Amino acid sequence: MKLYRLTGGGIDGLVPEQADVPRPGPGQALVRMRAASLNYRDIMVIEGRYGRGKAKERLVPVSDGAGEVVETGSDVRRVKAGDRVVASFMQNWRDGPPRDDYNDSALGASIDGVLSEFVLFDAEGLVKIPDALSFEEAATLPCAGVTAWHALFHDAGLRLGQTVLTLGSGGVSVFALQLAHAAGMRVIATSSSDEKLERLRELGASELVNYRQRPDWERRVLELTDGRGVDHVVHVIRSGDLERSIQATRFGGAVHLVASAVESEAVPGLVTRRLINLRGIHVGSREMLEALARVCAQRNIRPVIDRVFPFEDAREAYRFLKSGSHFGKVVIDFP
Ligand SMILES: NC(=O)c1ccc[n+]([C@@H]2O[C@H](COP(=O)([O-])OP(=O)(O)OC[C@H]3O[C@@H](n4cnc5c(N)ncnc54)[C@H](OP(=O)(O)O)[C@@H]3O)[C@@H](O)[C@H]2O)c1
Repeated sequence: MKLYRLTGGGIDGLVPEQADVPRPGPGQALVRMRAASLNYRDIMVIEGRYGRGKAKERLVPVSDGAGEVVETGSDVRRVKAGDRVVASFMQNWRDGPPRDDYNDSALGASIDGVLSEFVLFDAEGLVKIPDALSFEEAATLPCAGVTAWHALFHDAGLRLGQTVLTLGSGGVSVFALQLAHAAGMRVIATSSSDEKLERLRELGASELVNYRQRPDWERRVLELTDGRGVDHVVHVIRSGDLERSIQATRFGGAVHLVASAVESEAVPGLVTRRLINLRGIHVGSREMLEALARVCAQRNIRPVIDRVFPFEDAREAYRFLKSGSHFGKVVIDFP
């Protein structure tokens, strides 16, 4: 089988290799991968900027992938040969609250990921794909989709009639917009590009703010909400701007913190004074992935895929994501 490994040196160090197809042991399922999707996190991993330590040596990268079970080991009841499946981001986080050791089972960083024609998974880390979703669509769910789901629909306190602010048009934000819109929320969306804003409108955003033209975008959001502020912000800006997100939020509202940076000293005071519910989000559990997949199928929410690259062009897919010109998700197809 063909696979990619990281050999150091950034995207150029992503090298194709050949290996024998592994056989599943007890509790494992062998999956023939059909599609993978990239997240900004995959760029951080390849550039050695992710997590507490260095990634595993000669790592097989990429967390998010979907495929077909070809063989199962003994003691596997969860899936069978022929099932279409998607892998959960942290293989050991099934449900309930997070635990630190779940990070040790994060695909494509702590353990080998999915950029390989065949992958052995713990069968308990797999979720069946609803018929309504293609392999490519399902492959976009585990990181970006689940993060948006966790932020807005898992103990998030969202109520009908509330307003959600999404920032930019990357993977997490487009999912957050689609899900919030499907739930009947009013969505205000920002982007650096008027063209992307029009696409966000088509997906359900009712008000749009170009943050390039309005560097004080939080003021525009306040204008759009009669000075009150939004109820929820899904904060994904890795360069900072948390202070602006908080200013754009109503007193007692929630900021779901998906990306973090060194922020201004004003932030703690603002959080306290405005009684902001500042809530850390780190992807999510298998239970959240199951719920998201079910809701996408039930509500006909189609994950937005910008471009699909063939397996041989995986490095090009990384470069395209890094350019930031994408809208929604970037997918890699397997032969
Ligand atoms: N905590 C977690 O579990 C978790 C999970 C997933 C992702 N993340 C993090 O969340 C962030 C977003 O992830 P992603 O996969 O959605 O990334 P992505 O697809 O690379 O999204 C990047 C988009 O963010 C927008 N953006 C960049 N700078 C901005 C700014 N100053 N203000 C507003 N928008 C800005 C841009 O949208 P426009 O082109 O429209 O301007 C850009 O296209 C990353 O930092 C990622 O590491 C965290």
